[in-house]
Amino acid sequence: MISKKMEAALNKQLHKEMYSAYLYLGMSAWCSEHSFNGSANWFMMQYEEEMEHGMKVYHYLLDQGAHVELDSMKGSGTDYESLLSCFEQSLAHEQKMTRSFNKLCDFAIQEKDHASYTFFQWFVNEQVEEEATVSDVISKLKLVGDGNGLFMIDNQLAERTDTPTKPA
Ligand code: FEO
Repeated sequence: MISKKMEAALNKQLHKEMYSAYLYLGMSAWCSEHSFNGSANWFMMQYEEEMEHGMKVYHYLLDQGAHVELDSMKGSGTDYESLLSCFEQSLAHEQKMTRSFNKLCDFAIQEKDHASYTFFQWFVNEQVEEEATVSDVISKLKLVGDGNGLFMIDNQLAERTDTPTKPA
């Protein structure tokens, strides 16, 4: 059993996770259109991972006997300046998601909602990995600049076959 306020907060987070999926699908489309096929694969995996995050929140709401709200989704766009820009915007987005989970943790403590607090811990840990992974790609892209190195990194990103971690 969760409070109505927590239900609203979780529904907001569900929407944010679904938006994340939409955002990464747009980045994957941009990469495909610009022949960065490895990066397109990487962002498609990221899309799938965000869908899993969203569904994790969705099932938690239902398990708690709460109401699921599905808000309308605003387009995230599919236009980017460069591959580096895709990853930089991805990092900025993940940092925003980290702040969102930190706030949810604070709220759960405030509400003395131990179950939700525990639920959020998985995401808090996941965010550390999300930020680290994207930061690593950004560092490599900055290192190589434009040219052959870029395609080498793109090839490496093609090797991602599954999400780094799956929700339990
Ligand atoms: Fe579900 Fe990448 O945050």
